[in-house]
Amino acid sequence: MAAPAPAALEDDPTVAALIAARPLLSLHALDGLVLEQVPLSRIAEVLGTPAWVYSAGIMRARLAALQAALAGLAQVHYAVKANDHLAVLRLMAAGGAGADVVSEGELRRARAAGIPAGDIVFSGVGKTARELRLAIAEDIFQLNVESAEELEMVSAIAAPLGRTVRVALRINPDVDAGTHAKITTGTARDKFGIPFAEAPAAYARAAALPGVEPVGLALHIGSQILSTAPYRAAFARAAELVRALRAQGLPVRRMDCGGGLGIGYRDEAGASPAALAGAMRAAFGGLGLELMVEPGRWLVGPAGVLLAEVVLVKGGRFVVLDAAMTDLVRPAMYDAWHGIVPLAGRDAVAPAAAVDVVGPVCESADTFARARDLPRLSPGARVAVLDAGAYGAVMSSTYNARPLAPIALVDGDRWAVIRDRQPHAELWAGEHVPDFIG
Ligand code: LLP
Repeated sequence: MAAPAPAALEDDPTVAALIAARPLLSLHALDGLVLEQVPLSRIAEVLGTPAWVYSAGIMRARLAALQAALAGLAQVHYAVKANDHLAVLRLMAAGGAGADVVSEGELRRARAAGIPAGDIVFSGVGKTARELRLAIAEDIFQLNVESAEELEMVSAIAAPLGRTVRVALRINPDVDAGTHAKITTGTARDKFGIPFAEAPAAYARAAALPGVEPVGLALHIGSQILSTAPYRAAFARAAELVRALRAQGLPVRRMDCGGGLGIGYRDEAGASPAALAGAMRAAFGGLGLELMVEPGRWLVGPAGVLLAEVVLVKGGRFVVLDAAMTDLVRPAMYDAWHGIVPLAGRDAVAPAAAVDVVGPVCESADTFARARDLPRLSPGARVAVLDAGAYGAVMSSTYNARPLAPIALVDGDRWAVIRDRQPHAELWAGEHVPDFIG
């Protein structure tokens, strides 16, 4: 017997409302869903599904809007982890952003994309000696140190080389950013940053150690933050610390305010860069600091979609896609809500009913949406999963031996393939079967 269709749980935005809220997405009777000026079904026909599509126009516009809000106030270092494709990094660099990296791979990627080492900040709670040596050899702009232990490591590596590393101490302000528990980083129970109370001693130690030059403080309290209150609270604590350090005669010239600006996935209003700028001015105005921010999601999240095709509709209840949690893990990992919109004009206006949208992977978590009111979709219909430009392709896995999906980039009426679909043979290319197995 077929499972009963679920009743829609919440008042989800309609397909029309989702499209209307996204300026560079539009729906046309013949072309269907169009990103900038390119019909997404054309890309799906060429690349097959699942496939990612990014909009260069949206990324550029969002970077420009952020920079306008922060003009004369702060420098932007794009958090590479959100979307590390070389073309995306190139676009950010061309728009005047530096990069915030958290691994050797991201540092090498940023350099490969042509981002000068002098525009790179290296964050992260567990940088290895090898990563620190690379950062020192590259002479990057700033190393964000997250613990007293790491500070000693940096000094021990840099001093014998006769080098001096510009470090900012990442403090943990013990402020709850009010986001999903898995993406909050600024409370005392999180592994990130130097506990607030220990920061003065760590800063004094940094000033005394050979091979390091403390240039300021850094903080990052979490991700997908939609209100300014947690920023205000964290910045107030950081400003208090700047004053205390200076009163001790310690030089503090930079403040890295982190990332975390949220976007509207469902119908919530995204974070406002102007409000962030206001919070930064209120806390740090008059302190004569060089201010920095390192956002990822806000810049690229709304610029990406994941295209998928309906494989079958099981019992009228489960719409099974050819995309999975292996492509976009956010719903499985954070219970994240992502809009789902049909690509074909006629599908988008079909009568809606509540369905569960799932992937083919053998995990119950492989679910994109539960009890979602969606226009009726038949096998072969294609959909776009929205706002997948941040923490999408970068978090993909090859579980169930599913190759990484291809990526296309749209820019106005042009588009190009910027990553090929991974060939199956590449999945086991580095594997060896020893002779003794027989
Ligand atoms: N700076 C640091 C030190 C970070 O750890 C992060 C993100 C950022 C900047 C950029 O944060 P954003 O502006 O993108 O919020 N995978 C999760 C998000 C993890 C964020 C990790 N750190 C998700 O899909 O929601």
